[in-house]
Amino acid sequence: MTDALLNTLLNPAMAGAFAGAVLVAALTLRWLITAVVTFRATAWVPAVSRRLSSWVTAHHYTGDAFFTADGADAPLVARRMRALDRLSDSLGTRFQRSAAWGDGIRDGFSDLRFADANRVPFPFAPLMRDKFNLTTAVTASEGPRLRDLDGGWSLDVSGSYGLNVAGFDRYKMWIEKGWDRVKDLGPVLGPVHPIVADNIRMLRNFSGLDEVSFHMSGTEAVMAAVRLARFNTRRTLIVCFSGAYHGWWDGVIPGLGSERPLDDCLVLKDLSPTSLHVIERRRHEIAAVLVNPVQSFHPNTPPPNDAVLLTSEVRKTEDARERYASWLQNLRLTCTTADVPLIFDEVYTGFRLAPGGAQEFFGVQADMVVYGKTVAGGLPIGVVCGRRELMQRFDQQRPMRLAYVVGTFSAHPAVMGAMYEFLTWATEDESDARYEEMNQRCAAWVLSTNRRLADDSLPIRVVALGTIWTVLFKQPGRYNWLLQYYLRDEGITLSWVGTGRCLASMDFTSADYATLERAIVRAARQMMHDGWWLSADMSPRMETRMRMRLLREMLESLVPAPVKSFYTEVMLRKKDDHHASHNDFGNQMLHLISSSVFLYCYATLPFDLTTAVCLGLASLFVRQFGHAVLEPDAHEKEMSLLGFNTRNKTLIVAGYLLIPIAHMVQTQSLQYAVFVERLPAIAEHWWFWTQTVIIGRVAYLIWKFSFRTSMIWYVKLVTDPLTDVITYFPRRQRA
Ligand SMILES: Cc1ncc(COP(=O)(O)O)c(C=O)c1O
Repeated sequence: MTDALLNTLLNPAMAGAFAGAVLVAALTLRWLITAVVTFRATAWVPAVSRRLSSWVTAHHYTGDAFFTADGADAPLVARRMRALDRLSDSLGTRFQRSAAWGDGIRDGFSDLRFADANRVPFPFAPLMRDKFNLTTAVTASEGPRLRDLDGGWSLDVSGSYGLNVAGFDRYKMWIEKGWDRVKDLGPVLGPVHPIVADNIRMLRNFSGLDEVSFHMSGTEAVMAAVRLARFNTRRTLIVCFSGAYHGWWDGVIPGLGSERPLDDCLVLKDLSPTSLHVIERRRHEIAAVLVNPVQSFHPNTPPPNDAVLLTSEVRKTEDARERYASWLQNLRLTCTTADVPLIFDEVYTGFRLAPGGAQEFFGVQADMVVYGKTVAGGLPIGVVCGRRELMQRFDQQRPMRLAYVVGTFSAHPAVMGAMYEFLTWATEDESDARYEEMNQRCAAWVLSTNRRLADDSLPIRVVALGTIWTVLFKQPGRYNWLLQYYLRDEGITLSWVGTGRCLASMDFTSADYATLERAIVRAARQMMHDGWWLSADMSPRMETRMRMRLLREMLESLVPAPVKSFYTEVMLRKKDDHHASHNDFGNQMLHLISSSVFLYCYATLPFDLTTAVCLGLASLFVRQFGHAVLEPDAHEKEMSLLGFNTRNKTLIVAGYLLIPIAHMVQTQSLQYAVFVERLPAIAEHWWFWTQTVIIGRVAYLIWKFSFRTSMIWYVKLVTDPLTDVITYFPRRQRA
């Protein structure tokens, strides 16, 4: 063996082939290992849910079903109905003009329709839209308060999607002062105002990076950063982390929200060492790793929008600051070793968690940072800061290679003016202290609010990351999303994502926090009083039941409409049959016995036809005995429902009797031993007769009615044993 191998290796042609084979095997093995590691680190939920989204069909709760999604009983349903009507009246009266204004523009304003459609989980949406109009038309702001079209003031916790860090009054001032600085130039684009140099200087200081480019929104800045990373590394793959939002560009939406499947964006699990391993192994393909640091709040899950609040489980928030900081540090190390650029998308966290954003908050320096929201002092903006070698948009060696990243409104003078005011303010010595105070005040509010919620045994808590906060639901519930309506009734303005993501700002005084605390406690108390949370003794095994129901609804919604209506009709026939002819307890018990035996026969039929057919006939007899003796009047009803009449039944029974008689006649013996010997043949003929009767009946129903009706009858017949056992099982009967 060894000699043969040696001879082969000494032959140059064979040695070449051998080396080639070893190389191919090694490369295949390497590829396989990379594929397996990538598979383990990949977050599959986004891609799977995107695929599912084109299958899931709409289903809505109407009537009582709206109020019983968690299994509530009739008295509770009545209480909930009254509560919803009262809430609807209260909000309707209070926001009459806003609602009328919304109604007037809804048809022509698709943004408004989108927000309205995505406020609550979709099965509840139509009824909520009928009863409530949450259009928020506002005309003024003062401190953290907004004045609506009806003249009322409410406390704003929407934070303008993250823009409002410093308080609206400051932004008003910055916009005005900024405009004063540039108004002689006006909206001149192309040539730039000298103030741009100051902004670049300050942004370089804050970001710790070499270069800056200006864009019009966070989404656009993310697109620019990714494009630049690809251009300068000459690689295509972008790594994102599960659940992270990076704006609405479909290049970074692997899950729900975009229909485009992505082959150049790999979505890995957050906080996972295997993800680091993948980055290392695939470093030659990866153009950049993109991180949204707000994920430290809820790693691996999407922004906690109320519309996906199907059960309380969904709203998980981790106090993962320490863990996340060490994850980011490891990620930094891996990216440095692998020479893969690390991009921080700080559109949300930049200038919010700290003046230096998440980089300062978590102590990690990125290679590129994207800013947006607050950084232009209240005007629309997107900014990319990056290391020099990553910010190149042309290739000096190959002049035809360009990264075409431009935009009409980039560095608009008005935006640059307001940005100058904001950045100058953020650079002031007191700035750190202001941020510290803002975060501490919010943390103190969280403590005090949670204490009151716990004292009142209310099943919610609040949790914050800096001034970003969310509501946690401690108890299983299908109606948690309703809290946003109760809060609105208490004078709190939320964005369309509801209680999932709320914000405080620097101008939230202790008095404002106290107001917010009172509003949350009152809203939760009222919700509790109105019966939207069931206690464990009201509904045992509530969590499991809700999950099972959700799963059933989800699976049902995947079933095509014709199959669904077929199923509904079969079940309706079963229900009618059950009510018409199975009311006697004794009859029901006989059905339970015969159906259980039938199920056994189904299982044994392929292996032991004789036993299965004999037992099947015996249980058929038991069934018919129940109808004939214990519930005789049911016979008529059964006849009218199923179309069987006495003549048909007699003929069928006669057929079964004739078979053994024919065998006896053929053997000319009445001996039991002979009967037993012939039983397998008799059973075969009984089985054949059964098939004939069923096929005959199907053919008759097709001729008389339709193929569909015949199939409904057939499926009902075949599945009756199973549904009978479920229906007549004693525990189920008690329920
Ligand atoms: C982290 C992050 N990136 C990007 C964006 C998109 O920014 P914009 O809405 O300005 O396009 C957002 C918006 O919320 C964001 O939170």
